[in-house]
Amino acid sequence: MYLMLIGAPASGKGTQAKLLTEHFKIDHISTGDMLREAVTQRTELGQMIEDCLKHGRLVPDHHVMQLVEDRLAHDDITNGFILDGFPRTLSQAQAFDECLQQRGLSLDAALYIDVSDAVALQRVTGRRTDPLTKQVYHLTLNPPPPEILDRLVHREDDTEEVMRERLTTYHLEIAPVLEHYEHQNLGLKVNGSAKPDKIFEEILGRLESIPQKG
Ligand code: AP5
Repeated sequence: MYLMLIGAPASGKGTQAKLLTEHFKIDHISTGDMLREAVTQRTELGQMIEDCLKHGRLVPDHHVMQLVEDRLAHDDITNGFILDGFPRTLSQAQAFDECLQQRGLSLDAALYIDVSDAVALQRVTGRRTDPLTKQVYHLTLNPPPPEILDRLVHREDDTEEVMRERLTTYHLEIAPVLEHYEHQNLGLKVNGSAKPDKIFEEILGRLESIPQKG
């Protein structure tokens, strides 16, 4: 299964990607995680893009494409993948079409998790991540076990101020990306304001109804 998850910041892409990865035994490719890792490791790229992440601006397309192409070249993706947070611009979507074509691959669906800005804002301010297991929690919506509270990490870009910038960028760029996949009959929109297991169920149901590749 070759999938991508598109949606506003904190719409629940990572949460659904984890469930889909486990269900289909496919690779989870998150551009946000790869970019944060580059910053943590202080790589040349990491130093160049640190400011973009901190202030909620998009990283230039060519850097993101390079990361995605390297990952596809090195990982075993024969079972499939789920792209999380990519593409975010029309030019990334177009470059990715070429990338898939060169590998003889085709997407099964571009899943779009639809939430309001208010829901996204509420989710982002309470998000905490366990650095040991990478499990993502929410202080009230998906509370962590009390014994691990002290070690949980609050992402630097998860403040209300940076989130407003991330949402503005998202709204500026995303419409042509969604249209791009609508034109290819790959767009599947799901209601992201339901509970995670309900959204997951809806996604699985929608995926079952897509025509199988010959
Ligand atoms: P990235 O890491 O991709 O961040 P994002 O898109 O802002 O998305 P998030 O990771 O914040 O949220 P999510 O949708 O995964 O939600 P989650 O499941 O965690 O990107 C970060 C930065 O990297 C960007 O700002 C940009 O600078 C750069 N970047 C990344 N990709 C790029 C690209 N392609 N091009 C250029 N730049 C790029 O859920 C959020 C919270 O809500 C959690 O606490 C969770 O527990 C809770 N939750 C989830 N689902 C539900 C639910 N259904 N009900 C209640 N709570 C829920």
